[in-house]
Amino acid sequence: MKTFYFTATGNSLAAAKRIGGELISIAKADEKVYRDDAIGIVFPTYGFSVPKVVRRFLAETTLEADYLFAVATYGSTGGAVTRDVRRLLDFDYVNSILTVDNFLPIFDTAKQKAKLPSKNTAERIERVAEDIRNRKRFVPECGIGGKFLTAVCSKINIEMPDFPRKFFRVEGCVRCGICAKVCPVGNIEVKDAPVFSANCACCLACAHACPEKAIHVKGERSAERWRNPEVSLEEIIRANNQKERI
Ligand SMILES: Cc1cc2nc3c(=O)[nH]c(=O)nc-3n(C[C@H](O)[C@H](O)[C@H](O)COP(=O)(O)O)c2cc1C
Repeated sequence: MKTFYFTATGNSLAAAKRIGGELISIAKADEKVYRDDAIGIVFPTYGFSVPKVVRRFLAETTLEADYLFAVATYGSTGGAVTRDVRRLLDFDYVNSILTVDNFLPIFDTAKQKAKLPSKNTAERIERVAEDIRNRKRFVPECGIGGKFLTAVCSKINIEMPDFPRKFFRVEGCVRCGICAKVCPVGNIEVKDAPVFSANCACCLACAHACPEKAIHVKGERSAERWRNPEVSLEEIIRANNQKERI
């Protein structure tokens, strides 16, 4: 089994690790065709739908397996993400996992951390992992409210390639270079401070991973940052670093 994942702060990687199989980072996957008995993807929900990085991967890659699964992690409301991912590939099993919301402009990370125990994330991941082990076929119904949110958000487009230049403020950078290493699209070069190109995936990995908390997002609710405790900084760097592709 192969489990592809896309992650900025570790939530999707933590779920992928529990699901198991050979873990492959979508940000580093560069083969045109992958074959196995079972193949799946684990990814964060962006704008009540599927992130562009994941859409591009599914458009450019052929996944050949008897069993295909897709699992979306999300922090508050998934909208119609489970419907949208199935429009991209005919997955046999689709599900979602509620966890910490890492979208800094709307959610206070300190409050999100405090809420985590009430979200039953570990139990949910375990149930999804068991479904996948049993090769269960399941696609959840998507309510009208979720479809509405997804439709409205697709008009706003919160994934903007120029997001950092418009919404980031950098203060107190020590030029450690971690922001550039966790960026899944190689959009950052560190000179006197990070310099952002116009190819941002909007994942906020840089802002969350900065050890100095030097990358601020306009309107952020708190200075707290998040990395899933089951995932190390090194794992996120290994998953995303475009300067050292392995
Ligand atoms: C740009 C962006 C958009 C997001 N949009 C949503 C959303 O529409 N609904 C939601 O519940 N969570 C949303 N989130 C939160 C993430 O889906 C959630 O925190 C996810 O588990 C992060 O996974 P990761 O740690 O693997 O990156 C968004 C996060 C980002 C950065």
